[in-house]
Amino acid sequence: MKKYLIYTYGCQMNARDSETIAGILDSLGYAPTENEREADLILFNTCSVRENPERKIYGKVMQLRQLKEEKPGLLIGICGCMPQQEIERERIQSKHPEVDLVFGTHNISRLPELLEEAKDGRIIEVWSEGREDAALPARRQDDLKAFVNIMYGCNNFCSYCIVPYTRGREKSREPEAILEEVQELAASGYKEITLLGQNVNSYGQGLGREIDFAELLRLVNEVEGIERIRFTTSHPKDVSDRLIEAMATLPKVCEHLHLPLQAGSDRILAEMNRRYTKAQYLDLVAKIRRQIPQIALSTDLIVGFPTETEEEFLETLEMVRQVEYESAFMFAYSPRVGTKAAAMSGQVPEEVKRNRLNRLIAVQNEVSAKVSKRYLGKTCEVLVEGASPKDPGELTGRTRTNKTVIFPLPHGEISSWKGKLVPVKITRALTWTLHGVLEEEAYETGAEGGSRSGYSGNGSLQ
Ligand code: SAH
Ligand code: SF4
Ligand code: F3S
Repeated sequence: MKKYLIYTYGCQMNARDSETIAGILDSLGYAPTENEREADLILFNTCSVRENPERKIYGKVMQLRQLKEEKPGLLIGICGCMPQQEIERERIQSKHPEVDLVFGTHNISRLPELLEEAKDGRIIEVWSEGREDAALPARRQDDLKAFVNIMYGCNNFCSYCIVPYTRGREKSREPEAILEEVQELAASGYKEITLLGQNVNSYGQGLGREIDFAELLRLVNEVEGIERIRFTTSHPKDVSDRLIEAMATLPKVCEHLHLPLQAGSDRILAEMNRRYTKAQYLDLVAKIRRQIPQIALSTDLIVGFPTETEEEFLETLEMVRQVEYESAFMFAYSPRVGTKAAAMSGQVPEEVKRNRLNRLIAVQNEVSAKVSKRYLGKTCEVLVEGASPKDPGELTGRTRTNKTVIFPLPHGEISSWKGKLVPVKITRALTWTLHGVLEEEAYETGAEGGSRSGYSGNGSLQ
């Protein structure tokens, strides 16, 4: 039996695409392996959002030259966002003879044919649009939590970002197709769904129907068996009152919002084409917190955008302190060929970017530690994922706000707890992980079988 190995980089869209690629390969009779030496096909599902990961991917591909010499039948493929750019396709063509197969984000469904063709020599097929919403098979990475695409592409053209070029124009999936996927997941025992899109708040535009993201949340909330709904990413300019209301009222929608700020200075935000100001962002945060007081916020931040001054960077630090994010993804600006910002004058030197990034990380760590302490003494609803990787005598899971919680196995087998929603009292709060104990009483009186009744709705629950 032929075996495959997929290396996945980048965002959840790529993680979800890799599941589809794996599903297609399974249907062709391949089996997965984690050992390069056993593999007949090694695929790199790539990300273009910053330069560093791109370089690393090429380095890793080159390392496989040796293996390929030893095993001439080995096929090496590059897919995902990198080949969507002409400049990368040219680079692969001229500098990477070890690569046999190149395809893009829109033609994953063509994999069976492409594999056949690649046997007779290198094949490069990358479409710039036209991703079909066909029901393709998937090998899911997890059996409790699943990603579901609700839209593809992005129309926002933030001036630093390559995604609109690699993923094409924004396109929403039909709600029926989304609900069918969620229902199938529920029937297979999945408890948590993360709805995926680069800008989920504009869901429904272009479908020519009366539906928006808030309404989609309502529909998904009705699917029996699903206990938790998350989504990513929300562009601050598009967070509507209807969405906040849906989050506040739909019981399965978790109290966590990833709300990328990117920068704290109005001038930089305008240069980034983000279409909100610092004041508008803060107003939005205040409005969300009024209606969903226990909400956890996380964010994405970029330092060293072209022309960013020290003072403007300090405004980003100030916003981090003021908003008090639980966590943040923080990046040094990386110029991407073809984007507006890459052509701007006033690029910030690497060492300045690195210095700002380190200072930003230090401040965010302080804030994360402080926010984490607020969980102490509270009782959180935890979706149990299984044994803690560090100690098989302990269980691990997540709060509705997406914090990891570790607590001792109360009794019985680990497997009998997996997938259950249980109340855990937090006794120790580290920056990224909480420790606690099961509140047996609350669990036994109300939560048999993982139902939320009995202890949900308690104001102290997160
Ligand atoms: N659609 C999402 C995120 C897409 S990319 C959103 O709008 O928030 C994920 C993150 O990568 C971005 O939020 C941004 O913080 C970062 N990013 C994108 N392009 C970048 C670049 N050229 N340099 C550094 N970071 C970048
Ligand atoms: Fe990139 Fe902006 Fe689109 Fe996010 S919203 S994918 S940052 S262009
Ligand atoms: Fe990267 Fe493509 Fe996602 S560029 S961040 S994998 S959409």
